[in-house]
Amino acid sequence: MQRFVPVLRQDNVDPQLISLINTLMAACKEISFRLHQGELAGILGSTLDENIQGETQKKLDIISNQLIKDILLESGQVRAIASEEEDTIVAGSENGRYLVCFDPLDGSSNIDINSLVGTIFSIMEVPEGQTGATEEMFLQPGTAQVAAGYVLYGASTQLALTTGDGVRLFTLDNTIGEFLLTQERMSITQETAEFAINMSNQRFWEPAMQDYIADLLAGETGSRDKNFNMRWIAAMVGDVHRVLCRGGIFTYPTDNKNPNKPYKLRLMYEANPMSFLVEQAGGVSSTGYERIMEINPQEIHQRVAVILGSKNEVNTCLSYHK
Ligand code: AHG
Ligand code: MN
Ligand code: MN
Repeated sequence: MQRFVPVLRQDNVDPQLISLINTLMAACKEISFRLHQGELAGILGSTLDENIQGETQKKLDIISNQLIKDILLESGQVRAIASEEEDTIVAGSENGRYLVCFDPLDGSSNIDINSLVGTIFSIMEVPEGQTGATEEMFLQPGTAQVAAGYVLYGASTQLALTTGDGVRLFTLDNTIGEFLLTQERMSITQETAEFAINMSNQRFWEPAMQDYIADLLAGETGSRDKNFNMRWIAAMVGDVHRVLCRGGIFTYPTDNKNPNKPYKLRLMYEANPMSFLVEQAGGVSSTGYERIMEINPQEIHQRVAVILGSKNEVNTCLSYHK
């Protein structure tokens, strides 16, 4: 199926929200174009700067952030943005109705090896009656998201989007510069035999995760009675996309490698939008102890443990945490 749906005329979705997503997609098309130019566009490599998380910023982190930030702040629809690459929120239009959180380029370590990267976004409304632009406005649980999605800059560029009624998948047609609807409803298989975790952190995990992964590795010879396969793309966008396409469990669990940083992934612009997508496709998303989308955020760059994917497998993993 291939259908031209100018992102994304959906009967039951507010036209203002659709227009905002279309605006955001204009920036993502530009990122896609530059990424595919690669070395020719002189956009690979690092800058000398670090972001607020203490991570070296790649040139493309900065470029992507600037493109998305500019287009959103000029749209007239956005009250403020929160980005992985901005220390604080950035105010937009006084009358803007929306708040947008984003990870402009997820999987930065893959940029220089011409491998998978993506953009993740989460859209909320400004709480009723609030004026100005403050960080507090953003501190709403993931259940308050009105839309979320990611753009995967792979061999083809794809957009996975939810506005709270399932997940639709679009593919960028470079000949016309538009996203075409290529899958009406993504659905995550309930069972799986595939897991994704950075095994190099094994000795730093909690006992519950140690035990769970040990049972997966034991395969047919252990309590699970079946063999499991492993994948790790090092870009959440790529790993979650695989889970949406063919099922699986993806986790970046708590670890004690660095006591000041027990979690890696960020709640507002990585975990929440991905959780919204996963739940809308029939999967489950948890920290191990609570539903991610029910967390009340304390700050915009807060980190969180993530376990998401195929319903039955995630529930099995959660049973180890009880
Ligand atoms: P970012 O590039 O936006 O900082 O995010 C990278 C994140 C996530 O996408 C991925 O799952 C994880 O970091 C990879 O971590 P490791 O380097 O430990 O594999
Ligand atoms: Mn990221
Ligand atoms: Mn990033």
